Amino acid sequence: MTDFGDPLDTRAGIPYELFARLRVEAPVWRTGTGVWFFSLFDDVLAATKDIESFKSSFRDPGVVVPEEEQLISEIEEPRHGKIRRIVNSAIAAHRLGNVESFALETSHTLLERVLAKGGGELMNEFVMPLPTSVIATLLGVPTEDFHLWGQWSGDVVQGDYPTKNRTERGEGFAGAHPEFATYVDRQIAERRGAENPPNDFVTRLLTTDVEGQRLTDTEVRTLMVFLLVAGNETTRNLIGNLLVTMGQRPEIFRQLQDNPELIEVAVEESLRIDPPTAVLLRDCIRDTEIHGIPIRAGEKVAYGIASANRDESHYEDPNSFRLDRPNPNHHVAFGGGPHVCPGSVLARMEAKIAIEVFLEKVGKMKLAPDFVREKVPVFWANGPNALPVTLTRR
Ligand code: HEM
Repeated sequence: MTDFGDPLDTRAGIPYELFARLRVEAPVWRTGTGVWFFSLFDDVLAATKDIESFKSSFRDPGVVVPEEEQLISEIEEPRHGKIRRIVNSAIAAHRLGNVESFALETSHTLLERVLAKGGGELMNEFVMPLPTSVIATLLGVPTEDFHLWGQWSGDVVQGDYPTKNRTERGEGFAGAHPEFATYVDRQIAERRGAENPPNDFVTRLLTTDVEGQRLTDTEVRTLMVFLLVAGNETTRNLIGNLLVTMGQRPEIFRQLQDNPELIEVAVEESLRIDPPTAVLLRDCIRDTEIHGIPIRAGEKVAYGIASANRDESHYEDPNSFRLDRPNPNHHVAFGGGPHVCPGSVLARMEAKIAIEVFLEKVGKMKLAPDFVREKVPVFWANGPNALPVTLTRR
């Protein structure tokens, strides 16, 4: 049998060449570590919808967590749909209207600081603080603490949690990071203790019935931490990836500067060609088969988002960054099916604003001479670890 190598080993970068081979030679491939890897667009999209066969998985095999510590991606219908409605209401259009001006102002302030010294490390100084402070504003936790949970959400994502079932706190995803958990617990306690709690997301989570019952503090905390993490790391990587493209391709930088109406298209193309979430993990929960290949209940499955987005049967010239694609938002960067990302509108808005502000203020961007795009050290995540640049004002 051919040994293709491991499509989940992304330490040296996302293995796009290996994906291309798999799409042709073994679109449903069992890796050496026993994970079924799906590389075709149609299979990945269909699998995101097939919640009868596949369930989101962040854990080692055999690790079972109590229901109230399950992440929203792991919760099954119909309960999932009900919790999801509360999440959607937090990210609803009218709320985004309120955070839009905040995102704009934050982008200006952050970039001004970098410009004032002629450059810097964009990921820390410009990119990361934006999603962290925006998500905080949206959820109703103090924005001035953004640097804290920016750090904590990085710790959660870069640590081995939640693949291991840590027990020192015994309280799941959120409990894995004691400071983060304590912080969110305080937000919950403040609202529980207040006579007139603020009309914000945390209060709504505490006071909305799901299946006739209130969510427990642990459930609320797990959801809060998940939202703070989900909104940070991915959006950071989206903006970072597009800035790297603009830094490496001055003609794209100029094209966007001359035609700012193309920024939204560039955001979509970046999501397609460099999806911030490169892979999604699932547990197979009932025997099934794909292209005649049996997949058994209990086996692990990986949806190759970064492969699907370059599937040549869906995209002409899939490895090129192009601003003239007929349907720029035709990609699976936000997943699909009932668990499709509820934060996509917010992420797109933040990326558009960050890039608009950048192009408005920056005349020239030069990557540090020794710059090599190193990927963040998380196997499923795809974004630059650092982005040192010199900048000239426009
Ligand atoms: C570019 C930025 C983003 C990308 C690429 C992204 C990607 C994804 C993907 C692929 C999924 C599906 C996961 C699965 O099926 O297992 C997902 C789910 C989710 N995302 Fe995002 N996301 C982004 C931004 C955000 C933001 C800003 C938020 C928060 C406001 C957010 C909150 C969530 C939540 C709560 C889920 C779980 C939904 C569910 O299980 O019903 N994401 N995201």
